[in-house]
Amino acid sequence: MSEAQNTVALPPYPEIEKADALYGVSRWGGGFIRILENGHIGLVHPDRPDAVPTDLMHIIDSLNERGITAPVLLRVADFISYRIDQINALFSSAIEEQGYKNRYQGVFPVKVNQQAQVIDRIVAYGRSHDFGLEVGSKAELLIALAQDLGPRAALICNGVKDAEFVRLALMSQRLGFNVFLVLESPREVELVLREADALGVRPQLGIRIKLTHEVSGNWAASSGDRSTFGMSIAQVMDVIDALRARNYLDCLKLQHSHLGSQVPNIIEIRMAAQEACRFFVEISREGAPLEFLDLGGGLGVDYTGEHRAAENSTNYTLSEYCLNIVETVRYAMDEAEMPHPVIITESGRSCVAQSSMLLFNVLEATRYDSPEPVWAHPDDHMILKNMLNIESYLSAERVHECWNDLVFYRNEMRALLKSGQVSLRETAKAERAHLYLMNRIKSLLAGVEGGNDEMELAVQQAADIYHGNFSLFQSLPDVWAIDQLHPIAPLHRLREKPTRRAVISDITCDSDGKIDRFVLGDGVSKTLPVHELEATCDYYLGVFFIGAYQETLGDLHNLFGDTNVVTVELQDDGRFELMHEQEGDTVAEVLTYVEYEPRRLVDGFKAIVERAVHEGAIAPRDRREMIDAFKDSINGYTYFEH
Ligand SMILES: Cc1ncc(COP(=O)(O)O)c(C=O)c1O
Repeated sequence: MSEAQNTVALPPYPEIEKADALYGVSRWGGGFIRILENGHIGLVHPDRPDAVPTDLMHIIDSLNERGITAPVLLRVADFISYRIDQINALFSSAIEEQGYKNRYQGVFPVKVNQQAQVIDRIVAYGRSHDFGLEVGSKAELLIALAQDLGPRAALICNGVKDAEFVRLALMSQRLGFNVFLVLESPREVELVLREADALGVRPQLGIRIKLTHEVSGNWAASSGDRSTFGMSIAQVMDVIDALRARNYLDCLKLQHSHLGSQVPNIIEIRMAAQEACRFFVEISREGAPLEFLDLGGGLGVDYTGEHRAAENSTNYTLSEYCLNIVETVRYAMDEAEMPHPVIITESGRSCVAQSSMLLFNVLEATRYDSPEPVWAHPDDHMILKNMLNIESYLSAERVHECWNDLVFYRNEMRALLKSGQVSLRETAKAERAHLYLMNRIKSLLAGVEGGNDEMELAVQQAADIYHGNFSLFQSLPDVWAIDQLHPIAPLHRLREKPTRRAVISDITCDSDGKIDRFVLGDGVSKTLPVHELEATCDYYLGVFFIGAYQETLGDLHNLFGDTNVVTVELQDDGRFELMHEQEGDTVAEVLTYVEYEPRRLVDGFKAIVERAVHEGAIAPRDRREMIDAFKDSINGYTYFEH
């Protein structure tokens, strides 16, 4: 299997070419997402280029018919299996190309997406590749132990462990699981050996080393001396001595290191692999029979499609990643005259990011300009007349001057209002004039090359706000927490020129609940080109590549719960099969999370309604309707419903 082509042939329409250049879909789409002839966004199975793409608007319509409304988290199962196959295939070809004398064995870190649908798919598709799981907590270990992992698939136990965790892991070794208990700290040695002695099990141990190499990107803190996990060089030696003293050094089979997620630069990956190999050679020379070199996660996703060493991008492809690792390990081991180890990686993000997307409708738009002209009146205040006069000299050449004048006159009018020299009505007219002139300036700027930074910023600040039916905190927590960029695009109307620029705000009452950085074809922009909303038809946007980390990190801000989630499989004729539906949280469910009892809330409301009837505030016949409305809401979706 070759790597997915980053570009796919576009339908032969100039409008589509323009939309593609604007939103950069073929740049970031990675062979999974493309614009279709009808101007909708489509899903493409990268491995089946001849299959008819699946139209996302068709999926939305079909889900609506089934009563599954937006916001919806759409999971495309095919994309998960494709990535599992691809990562294994590309490691295999790197191994062949490099004449590497051992194998690759991947594991999926459960924390990246613990959803049962995801883990099931990974385990099912990973079986033929001996693809295993990495766990970092008791709950994740339990998930892994309930899976039908193949006998050779590794089950890597990282993270802080207590006696219960260790015991369970050791017992599962007897059940045939290929478990590795990775020692994270010297403290764990005593704990693990005590439990192993008690159970009479010779464990397969791993040792987590702390690489000194520091990487760039959002997760730099996971690397280097100050990283939280793993052992320093001195601690590694102490652990080796302790294992030797207790006669357990022969159990040390695996070396683990993890650089941090989303490493943008391939050179850093190579250098970290080099350092890990040095540790591997030295620990082996100390007498540990190491067989497995686990290089952790870090394989990045090119969210922006820029293909460069930046936080949300990568300067390497998956096949380069595989080749660089295999080559580095081969070279280091050959130089040390040591056998080649089994290479393990724990790629999470890269396996699942592309498989999920959030689809939501826009509820309304707030505009910071207006096409409605405002006419001067002889009685208008001088400042307002001056403001309205701007239109007489507004031109591409003088647009900056007009902008400065507009700002000045608006501030003057506001100052006059504060000092009681103009009325609210006069100021309102000035504000309307400002909106109208903003509109004129924005249209002029759209056609002007190389605008001025200050003005561009000002115009961005005057962009529309499109209010989306989703919660950033629930569905896109990394956008809020670490400024993660996910590609976003309208799902339809891409044969029409988008005439507005907007930032996206969510449905929570929090000013942080907004998206104001967008991946576009020519880089990252503070606004998204969007289409004018229409009264008769919903406008849908999609946030792509959200399959890694987002689902369980999300929280209940404003009590917006889990969205509806559907898992689909793409069919060759462009249709899809609905594999699984998980209804989003109801209001009652989220209320129980914060310890309310929905029944008691209904009873409380009933008592209030009853009192209103008693006091004559409402008619008895209104009682039922009010109680039913309360019950409907409590049993309904937490998001906006039509
Ligand atoms: C130990 C370990 N392995 C693997 C991963 C997954 O990393 P990624 O999603 O970059 O592949 C992580 C995440 O940070 C991790 O902590």
